[in-house]
Amino acid sequence: MASLTVRQLDEKIKKQLRLRAARNGRSVEDEVRTILRGAASEGNTFDSLPPTEERRSLDSAREAATRRILLIIGGGIAAYKSLDLIRRLKERGAGVRCILTKAAEEFVTPLSAGAITGERVFTDLFDPQSEFDVGHIRLARECDLVVVAPATADLMAKMSGGHANDLATAVLLATDKKILLAPAMNPRMWGNAATRRNVAQLAADGAVLVGPNEGEMAERGEQGVGRMAEPLEIVAAIEGLLARPAAGRPLAGKRVIVTSGPTHEPIDPVRYIANRSSGKQGHAIAAAAAAAGADVTLVSGPVALPDPSGVAVVKVETAQEMLKAVEAALPADAAVFAAAVADWRVGEPKAQKIKKGGKTPPLTLTENPDILATIAGRKTKRPKLVVGFAAETERVIENARDKLRGKGCDWIVANDVSPSTGILGGDRNTVHLVSASGVDSWPPQSKDQVAKTLVARIAAALGQAR
Ligand code: CTP
Repeated sequence: MASLTVRQLDEKIKKQLRLRAARNGRSVEDEVRTILRGAASEGNTFDSLPPTEERRSLDSAREAATRRILLIIGGGIAAYKSLDLIRRLKERGAGVRCILTKAAEEFVTPLSAGAITGERVFTDLFDPQSEFDVGHIRLARECDLVVVAPATADLMAKMSGGHANDLATAVLLATDKKILLAPAMNPRMWGNAATRRNVAQLAADGAVLVGPNEGEMAERGEQGVGRMAEPLEIVAAIEGLLARPAAGRPLAGKRVIVTSGPTHEPIDPVRYIANRSSGKQGHAIAAAAAAAGADVTLVSGPVALPDPSGVAVVKVETAQEMLKAVEAALPADAAVFAAAVADWRVGEPKAQKIKKGGKTPPLTLTENPDILATIAGRKTKRPKLVVGFAAETERVIENARDKLRGKGCDWIVANDVSPSTGILGGDRNTVHLVSASGVDSWPPQSKDQVAKTLVARIAAALGQAR
């Protein structure tokens, strides 16, 4: 094959290349590779993929095609699946550079990873040759995404503590790119309080997780949550993270209704029954849906929050008003009921302020309409996807399952709102997505991140329902 160096190109092209490389934060050599890879993949179609491969999204495959992934393989039995992951990424035209931890070398060799990536594999922080050639800082920066698969308990513990005593951890600490973690470990290690803390910290630091899944472990007789996500699931997560802004509006053309905040149920003109909901989660969902391109109507009870930008906000006080406003906003593709609707209202609120001094007034309560159940049960104009929340203080999953069935919705986002969690009014949330197909527990994260993840799930579900 003929060889060509950048030096042989004419000055004008070199200048354009330098500018382009600087804009994209790559070296000139990498920019050339990216351009060539892009050109070579122009003729790529899914016909060249295995026939069993789902023909999911040509666009997202093209997105990944010009991107560079830095794959850090940790030391776990799932490391063998990472070789398949490399192959899947290469099929899609992505460039893959690989770092193996010392422990990973017990499971896969630099030779096998190098043969599949077609590139040199990096293993040692103190190897003078690789420091001279590339250096750990360039490794950390010359990529579009860092993927850690398998992300072992030990590697995640080091990451959450900011360690940098080997090449993998030094690169993870030095990178300015998004990090995707595909955890894999024994279920007891995954459930251990130390791992829970580390995962929560990493999610708070902005890392994104894919998996782990539930199933059988490599160790005989072990079963539970801890299996690394399958390579194609990791590829899907990578494609999602690499989607460029145009493709990052997966809800364009969709209508979404969100309810948020508490309701106030009047006792008299100055008093009311309320609850502690701040509306932060519902408002964050409305904002995330709008950012994803949806046409959003937010029906909000009284909150002390600014209106999210790009969202039509309908302000209401009571549950009855909220139901009316939601019905008026139909039809919609998806509806998310995040409001903490008062279950009861005062049967006959007084027209004048109740004065003390006389008999203590009895409060007769009447049950409010269940907005979620009403909309989920509609024969006409039922949104394709109806999502409820379940704020619980005990038996979180069981209660959520009951609500899923009882209210006829498609998903329940369940959370523990016991006072000790600080979720009500706080900025963070720990949720479980409960649907007919199972329970997906997300690590503790900011309410904004919960909103983004939920919106991505909604977009995926609506995309499949198309
Ligand atoms: N919900 C609703 N209308 C109501 C009550 C609740 O739309 N009148 C919705 C909430 O927005 C949420 C879901 O139903 O999406 C569950 O709300 P939650 O308060 O957790 O449950 P409740 O049905 O009120 O039951 P309980 O208070 O007994 O747990």
